[in-house]
Amino acid sequence: MRRGWRAPRRKERRTLNRFDVLTLFPAMFQGPLQESILRRAQDKGLVTIAVHDLRDWTHDRHRVVDDVPYGGGAGMVLKPEPVFEAVEALRQGPRSTVVALTPQGLRFGQGMASELARLPHVILLCGRYEGFDDRIPRGLQALEVSIGDVVLSGGEIPALVVLDATVRLIPGVLGDEASALSDSFATGLLEHPHYTRPPRFRGMEVPPILLSGDHRAIARWRRKEALRRTRQRRPDLLSRASLSDLDRKLLAEIEREDAGVALENRDERD
Ligand code: ADE
Repeated sequence: MRRGWRAPRRKERRTLNRFDVLTLFPAMFQGPLQESILRRAQDKGLVTIAVHDLRDWTHDRHRVVDDVPYGGGAGMVLKPEPVFEAVEALRQGPRSTVVALTPQGLRFGQGMASELARLPHVILLCGRYEGFDDRIPRGLQALEVSIGDVVLSGGEIPALVVLDATVRLIPGVLGDEASALSDSFATGLLEHPHYTRPPRFRGMEVPPILLSGDHRAIARWRRKEALRRTRQRRPDLLSRASLSDLDRKLLAEIEREDAGVALENRDERD
């Protein structure tokens, strides 16, 4: 073995993540990309995010990117030519993935964010107007992604949602790696409640166990409260989560406690 050689550290072995954003409103990205985690990830050299004006790939004097829909109807449709030219200029062969933001897409979530965080190059295509000419996602083999069942004015804010959720999962981006692992959804459950000083605020107390210094008891309490929250607020998540024996025991305790509370409330009413 060569002297001075050492195995590359995990961080150094990773290919650099790159995002290219195609939009009609590049200024919408200025603030969010210059602040907080997204800023730090770029400054640390862990990710490159480049924002491009789709009109740079038009060839007419008016830089037209849209046209009326065939078959009539309201609104305008994004034309295929500038989008294809732009994607073809930015694409780096099979290492690139094209993501088109549209309310008709696959639902974005924590799982998709962690898959995107592993890709070397993602091109985010922001729609406007009534949407894309359907040959755009088809011809570019784009993954169509929606951030939820809500219609926004365009794909820019959804692209920022995807960028923010994805970049924070790239190793090295968060100061405390553990915090991404315990995030809501990363574990399949909602997070337990958090508290900081003061211990008593406007009559509301911090649960005494958190002040006890007993780390085992605190971990158990946190897991139990995560289960309680998920059961109350997102039972759909709970039915899909993989639960340990301890989780089942904690859930049984929660059910007994909640049944007790219901009984107490009834007695108070009677
Ligand atoms: N463009 C408009 N609404 C959207 C949504 N919900 N998700 C992704 N892109 C969109």
